[in-house]
Amino acid sequence: MTTYSEEIKLVARPGEIAFPKGLEGVVVAESTKSFADGLGGKLVYHGHPIEELAEKSTFEEVFYLLMHDRLPKGSELEETTQLLRRDREVPPQVYALVEELAGVRGVHPMTVLRTAVSMLAAFDENAEEDSPAADQRHAIQIVSKIATLSAAIGRVRQHKPVLRPHPDLSHAANYYYMLVGEPPDSFTGRLMDVLFILHADHESNASTFATVVVKSTLTDTYSAVVAGIGALKGSLHGGANERVMAMLQEIGSSENVEAWLDQAMAQKKRIMGFGHRVYKTTDPRATILHSYAREATRRAGTERWLHMAEKMEKIMVEKFGQKGIYPNIDFFSGVVMASMGMETAMFTPTFAVGRSAGWVAHAWEQRQDNRLFRPRFVYIGPETEPYLPLPERH
Ligand code: SDX
Repeated sequence: MTTYSEEIKLVARPGEIAFPKGLEGVVVAESTKSFADGLGGKLVYHGHPIEELAEKSTFEEVFYLLMHDRLPKGSELEETTQLLRRDREVPPQVYALVEELAGVRGVHPMTVLRTAVSMLAAFDENAEEDSPAADQRHAIQIVSKIATLSAAIGRVRQHKPVLRPHPDLSHAANYYYMLVGEPPDSFTGRLMDVLFILHADHESNASTFATVVVKSTLTDTYSAVVAGIGALKGSLHGGANERVMAMLQEIGSSENVEAWLDQAMAQKKRIMGFGHRVYKTTDPRATILHSYAREATRRAGTERWLHMAEKMEKIMVEKFGQKGIYPNIDFFSGVVMASMGMETAMFTPTFAVGRSAGWVAHAWEQRQDNRLFRPRFVYIGPETEPYLPLPERH
């Protein structure tokens, strides 16, 4: 990999200087938080395989692991759980903003979430404090409150009353309660926790990278997370899950899958939920969600979505597996969240609730050994241009 430096000419003709578009394969920092093995199809959070965390851990425990680089002891887990519960409530002015915006037709829930999280900073008297202790406090505030905000957005969209946080429920169970309107049963509560665990972190994905770049200017953590929400909203990133569901609804039945795919691929369309910058085999998170999807769709009577998804996966892998195009986390997550009673538009905000843990953990890690992110562009514009007086510009 060429290392760019001042010596290398950065003024050139278009295409003259090669560089990896989209920073593909470019290392930008060291991190202890997570690693995705793209060829092996493995993911670890600080050495812990995602399969084991999905089976044995909780979101509260994973949040602690990501912030502190180790699993918590009993007292530490209890403290983190209590802090997250203590900070669930949001100021009335922020609820009012959600009520005003989320009910407006066409306002995307991620737009409302981004705006509401940004407004939270105005009500945190320590928002501008730059210290390790403040960063830790901001991390808990943001991770706790983003769940309350996302659920409130979902309720306003459904024209249902916003439910205040339930003090006795876990982070995942409380989110489900505030969004759907009743506490989850044991299977659904566990599945909600697994969804948050699987979405919590994924090394330098676009939204986490955005968060880290913004944090590197030494701005506040709220500003950095707002950047992450903006990045996650995009269809190439976290916005794919809602588009998977729209795709399945457009296809309509398993019988239509192959013809629809043939047409879409002939039109060079991107099949949402497939492909990944890192994974060149099945995303291990998709495998875990696929296993939960069987029971979730059976309970909801939505097996047809799963059958369509499984047929799509089979055809896509047969046709494009050799190109390294396999299902990613967004492919089965939509089927699972729809079967849990979530509105499609709420899939990405739910992703953000889980990923908020990774965003604040990487912002924290970056801040401890900070250096401003400031790469270069290859300048392919004119080296000099005369300043023509207005009358002479034709
Ligand atoms: C997430 O980075 C992360 O870790 C993200 C994430 C996380 O946890 O944070 O894992 C979450 O964002 C998962 C990805 C969700 N996005 C989608 O499902 C959208 C559909 N996927 C693609 O758009 C694509 O796969 C990306 C954006 C995810 C990755 O794209 P790359 O690495 O930039 O690859 P590329 O666009 O250069 O494609 C390489 C080739 C192209 O074909 P050629 O032009 O070489 O012939 O593969 C093709 C692409 O056309 N291709 C696809 C495809 N994905 C890649 N063709 C059809 N459908 C697809 N989904």
